[in-house]
Amino acid sequence: MESVTDAERATKQQKKEADMISKKMQKAINEQINRELYSSYLYLAMSAWAELQGYKGAGTWMAVQAQEENGHAMKFFRYLLDQGATVELAAIQKPPTEFKSLASVFEETLKHEKFVTSCIHDLMTLAKAEKDYASEILIQWFVTEQVEEEASAAEILGQIKMAERSPGVLLAIDRGLGQRKAD
Ligand code: FEO
Repeated sequence: MESVTDAERATKQQKKEADMISKKMQKAINEQINRELYSSYLYLAMSAWAELQGYKGAGTWMAVQAQEENGHAMKFFRYLLDQGATVELAAIQKPPTEFKSLASVFEETLKHEKFVTSCIHDLMTLAKAEKDYASEILIQWFVTEQVEEEASAAEILGQIKMAERSPGVLLAIDRGLGQRKAD
């Protein structure tokens, strides 16, 4: 009786291993977790800077963005665990503390999001090469999310640039940014 249970357990284990994502994909997702956590850190740093400069609305917007990035990291984190894969958390790089202007904060944001988009696309290329359908579905969500993230950063940057020489309009934009709520 005992040996049947052992055999069943062994079969289950074999099946789990067969279902598991590749070591390469596991490593790539762990690296992406780190990038998402860095994104969260970066936006938190921007939030603090903005608030200290008197842009309270932008500070709120960035704090919500930081939370969202943490959520992105957790989506990958959960996925690795559900796949029976190892989560390996690496050190998070220190973000800058100083920014030139509110426009430069959103310029940096857009630049960073474009970088993240390229990393997500690399993950998708890997998933397709490995015929890893489960990872592909997860990454698909991020492909769509990145389109939104880039679009919103570009839109805000455009508005701020137009208002740079008119403090009243800039203040109104900042007030608008402060309306952002966590999803
Ligand atoms: Fe999670 Fe803004 O990329």
